[in-house]
Amino acid sequence: MSDNIERILISHDQIQKRVTEIAKDITKDYKGKDLLLVGILRGAVVFLADLIRQIDIHICIDFMAVSSYGASTKSSGVVRILKDLDEEIKDRHVLLVEDIVDTGLTLRYLQKNLQTRNPASISICALLNKKCKQKVPISLKYCGFEIPDEFVVGYGLDFDEKYRNLNDICILNEESIQVS
Ligand code: PRP
Repeated sequence: MSDNIERILISHDQIQKRVTEIAKDITKDYKGKDLLLVGILRGAVVFLADLIRQIDIHICIDFMAVSSYGASTKSSGVVRILKDLDEEIKDRHVLLVEDIVDTGLTLRYLQKNLQTRNPASISICALLNKKCKQKVPISLKYCGFEIPDEFVVGYGLDFDEKYRNLNDICILNEESIQVS
């Protein structure tokens, strides 16, 4: 698998350091509050797993799975919910946990959808933010790294469902992107 990597964009050590900082901020900001972290499947799983183990307050976790309606939806912002929350969120503090914000359309949809369920608050924690690609403004309460418009894999992020198990966030070489 390492043969397919052009270079490491963000190393595992850099990620862990930033995850610890974010977890400290979450611990401080949500002390005494009923916090539900919602991981967006599947990419956010690795980040969520590391993040929650550094948070030093009681929390709950839940997951949502979403899918775009075909190729055109990424731009239309229409998202289909494949797996909804198991938890009620009314009057609870919700923190959506994402691996990456690209156009921002997925998060905009999710935020709007969950807002109708009357949570006490709804905020976003994203490991990576491709600000240059955003089509809608998304306000991130916590952001790991701003990244350039490069196709990244690893630490939960995939190409053709592969590479999620890489420890670092990497850029694939040209050959690997062509032979999917
Ligand atoms: C990625 C990422 C976000 C979404 C961001 O998920 O995890 O959910 O795309 O894109 P957007 O900002 O343009 O809406 P993906 O559809 O690749 O699924 P995955 O998490 O299962 O890899």
